[in-house]
Amino acid sequence: MSVPQTDLLAGRRVLVTGAASGIGRAIATHCAAAGASVVVSDLDPRVAAVVGPTGAVGAKVLDVTDEEAVAEVVAEVEAELGAIDVLVVSHGILTQAPLADMSTALWEETLAVDLTSVFRLNRAVLPGMLARGDGRIVNVASQLGLKGGASLAHYAAAKAGVIAMTKSLALEVSSQGVLANVIAPGPIETPLVDGIDEEWKVAKRAELPLGRFGVPDEVAPTAVLLASDPGGNLFVGQVLGPNSGDVMP
Ligand SMILES: NC(=O)c1ccc[n+]([C@@H]2O[C@H](COP(=O)([O-])OP(=O)(O)OC[C@H]3O[C@@H](n4cnc5c(N)ncnc54)[C@H](O)[C@@H]3O)[C@@H](O)[C@H]2O)c1
Repeated sequence: MSVPQTDLLAGRRVLVTGAASGIGRAIATHCAAAGASVVVSDLDPRVAAVVGPTGAVGAKVLDVTDEEAVAEVVAEVEAELGAIDVLVVSHGILTQAPLADMSTALWEETLAVDLTSVFRLNRAVLPGMLARGDGRIVNVASQLGLKGGASLAHYAAAKAGVIAMTKSLALEVSSQGVLANVIAPGPIETPLVDGIDEEWKVAKRAELPLGRFGVPDEVAPTAVLLASDPGGNLFVGQVLGPNSGDVMP
């Protein structure tokens, strides 16, 4: 799938988490192709190897559950590259367990990675963005945060939390020039969904109006839109759903 070469994000500095793989990697690629200086970040040290293919200018290995490390990486990027104009939060984990059998440890791990770390990353970039009166925050949640999912109560709860947190943040800071929004994808072909059983995937594809899952290159342009001026200027606390028609809010 071709990546549009534009100047929609010319001169913008973008930090993308979860960028070693899947949707985050595609968002990094599309932001760089739109003229942005992109730093890719991930827990997986292989993130360094995606600098070349994505067109990023740097990579940071970061476990987003480490509060100090989040603050350090944001400070490092701002020292090395300059102000972070756009934060895209696209890391995540997904496991499956019926609620009746779900351990507290699994619940807490999912909430830590998929929700609390999003809060920390958002908080870490805010002082700079508010001081400059300019910034874009794009948090990748999931349509499951809107509709729930069997054996996915932990994941769906975390994603619903990301949506509610982002709306609340948008209410707090949009008048100061910082726009926060959510992308809530439907099923997308990435390593995240590799582990889900094939029977479920076949049934899921059949119920989608488009009849197929998306691919990361079909999600990434939504992040470019939200980060861009003027395209993203009027999006405040919105939940955009590249989801093959699965959810129509
Ligand atoms: N693939 C889908 O169907 C789908 C649908 C809706 C939402 N999403 C969301 O999109 C985002 C990206 O998912 P993806 O499908 O690209 O998955 P992916 O597995 O391809 O990528 C997720 C990345 O997050 C990183 N990560 C995991 N834990 C981390 C941690 N503690 N610190 C830093 N990085 C960490 C992983 O190393 C990985 O590179 C996630 O938030 C996911 O929940 C995915």
